[in-house]
Amino acid sequence: MSRTLSVLRRAALLTVGVAAALGAAAGQSLAAPPAGNDDVQPQVVGGTRAAQGEFPFMVRLSMGCGGALYKTDVVLTAAHCVGATGPTTSIGVTAGSVDLQDPNRITRTSTYVYRSPNYNNPASDWALIKLNSPITNQALLPIATTTAYDSGTFTVAGWGAATEGGGQQRYLLKAQVPFISDTQCRQAYSELVPNEEICAGNWSSGGVDTCQGDSGGPMFRRDNNNAWIQVGIVSWGYGCARPENPGVYAQVSTFAAAIASAAAGLPGGSNPQPGRTFENQNNYNIPDMGTVNSPIAVSGATGAASASAAIEVNIVHTYRGDLVVDLVAPDGSVYNLLNRSGGSADNVNQTFTKNLSSETANGTWNLRVRDAASADTGYINGWKITL
Ligand code: ARG
Repeated sequence: MSRTLSVLRRAALLTVGVAAALGAAAGQSLAAPPAGNDDVQPQVVGGTRAAQGEFPFMVRLSMGCGGALYKTDVVLTAAHCVGATGPTTSIGVTAGSVDLQDPNRITRTSTYVYRSPNYNNPASDWALIKLNSPITNQALLPIATTTAYDSGTFTVAGWGAATEGGGQQRYLLKAQVPFISDTQCRQAYSELVPNEEICAGNWSSGGVDTCQGDSGGPMFRRDNNNAWIQVGIVSWGYGCARPENPGVYAQVSTFAAAIASAAAGLPGGSNPQPGRTFENQNNYNIPDMGTVNSPIAVSGATGAASASAAIEVNIVHTYRGDLVVDLVAPDGSVYNLLNRSGGSADNVNQTFTKNLSSETANGTWNLRVRDAASADTGYINGWKITL
């Protein structure tokens, strides 16, 4: 997790990384429980409660970030909220309720994270999280694919701090933040990357902003059909809701094409890891006490293989404890996946993660299976590698 974004940019006061909170304009009362209200900061961010069902696409992530349902089984969040691209079951996802303790809330876990390959804290601050099963009864939040909506007044929502330095919220808060031009925003943040970041807030008075724990959540507005459309991803800011220190959001329209193709390329997507997932679904008999290879010839994949390459193996066998399964790289390097494990159980249906960053991606990869004990037999049913 990188909750340290702020630290890297502006020492202790930069609010990046974890959660964010929302504020409403001064004078609006905070309906949520008063966590953090004892903070006596002059620019405290107020917030108003979102109604149940008002923003059905909002999700809360267990590392303390927000996100939005982009597909029924894909959440769009911030890169700084997640670790490297690859399989992971470590992220919990809560959806379907403004109350994080609602007994009727929807919960899921991650199966895979895709972090922008261009992420360079805080540039290109977007990531996708694949869920273990779809959430089918909540509206999705479409993303802006042009700059047409990159202005006006935006809505933000999240369970992050309601005051700078305050605690996380149990109930979803929302606020409205006006667009701030790149030119003006650069007066606050000279490091702003204008086409990758979009700023919002009340320039001269502050008072309304996202904050720690809101990161990864959406900034959105109505499109020409009066439907919600996402224009930003909560990324960072200097403090929260301070005058002349607006919130900075990843500019979704800039990344829309990359987000769409990454989503299609997630495991189980319509186009697994475009250009980077390769498979051989032919069957290869594993001779008793013998060895067989199932080759995958990779071309057009530039550079090194991934530091967290996924190898999905499907073997039909009546005694998997017989089997030694290796991945053999194009240069002959051997990565052992299984060494006679699993005893008398049948079959191998497993995804392995290996650091293949010392290998070039192009060339012929082999799944090598050796049957090391007599009697039971089987076959390689298919395998895939994501480089
Ligand atoms: N980086 C923060 C997070 O991880 C979000 C900070 C947003 N700050 C702001 N002033 N808008 O939650």
